Amino acid sequence: MRIGILTGGGDCPGLNAVIRAVVRKATAAGDEVVGFRDGWRGLLDDDSVVLDVAAVRGLLPRGGTVLGTSRTNPYAVEDGPGRMLATLERHRIDALVPVGGEDTLGVAAKLAAEGLRVVGVPKTIDNDLDGTDYTFGFDTAVGVAMEAIDRLHTTGDSHHRTLVVEVMGRHAGWIALHAGMAGGANVILIPENPFDVDGVVAHCLHRFESGFSPIVVVSEGARPADGGLVTSTGQTDAFGHVRLGGIGAALAAVLEARTGRESRAVVLGHVQRGGTPSPFDRVLATRFGLAAVDAVDAGLSGVMVALRGTDVVPVPIAEATAQLKLVPRERYAEAEVFFG
Ligand code: F6P
Repeated sequence: MRIGILTGGGDCPGLNAVIRAVVRKATAAGDEVVGFRDGWRGLLDDDSVVLDVAAVRGLLPRGGTVLGTSRTNPYAVEDGPGRMLATLERHRIDALVPVGGEDTLGVAAKLAAEGLRVVGVPKTIDNDLDGTDYTFGFDTAVGVAMEAIDRLHTTGDSHHRTLVVEVMGRHAGWIALHAGMAGGANVILIPENPFDVDGVVAHCLHRFESGFSPIVVVSEGARPADGGLVTSTGQTDAFGHVRLGGIGAALAAVLEARTGRESRAVVLGHVQRGGTPSPFDRVLATRFGLAAVDAVDAGLSGVMVALRGTDVVPVPIAEATAQLKLVPRERYAEAEVFFG
């Protein structure tokens, strides 16, 4: 059996742990693994590397992906599917393991529907992929954001100023919710719940009254209910996603004007995606890689390995990519108890 593997979309800590686990498990079973570089681009351009056990030594703790990644959409490229199938035939690939989020696995679902043998591995720091309780990368990102919030509390209190922390999360506020709860934020703003600026101002003033300074955690995709403060660069990627950025600075300016207290914005950005994975993410990524090879060897296709409770199980990719997993209202209500 020859297995192809690629990593697509935004990188995240744990991708290398998946690659290592796939290679180790496949090699032990007598299978061979070929890596394609930079996501779907590697299949379009036939840019590949043979992955044996020696090639994956030392990968477990390394952030990023040794295969490289891109947001290439092969369905937006002329004869994209045909070019990819030709590459797979040339390398005599029996099954493909794409590791990615909604976009990468959306392409995987289409290829599976066209008859290709595909077993997906879910990845995104945003944790917004449906069908799995958690994706690897999320725990690491939350840890980075929480550490930042812990540090910002002490400097904010010393200067009696509001600190607005902008975290990643385009459509879903999981990082803001978890990092904000873990870090004791005074307000958490997420894309799922358009916020009321008056309410945020009131929470900040209340926090100042207690003798401490407010920390406001805001997802990059969060918006006020009145539609103001919309911030994006206007640029889009190959899957049509707008590049976000700027809500933290815009909100800090409004809070400074409305509270009469100095406000500063901190954008955590790609720091959340870089560096070594947490223990949880190393184990989850490793288990996903092992389960992907099990699924391939069992002859499954059109599935994605997923965490359900403490078990890793195959679920239909098409179901997992049909909609995003957003923060439910009741989870946000838990965090609201601590606002102000
Ligand atoms: O999809 C994961 C993610 O980290 C989002 O939270 C964020 O909006 C996006 O990637 C940023 O992508 P890029 O690095 O391509 O700007």
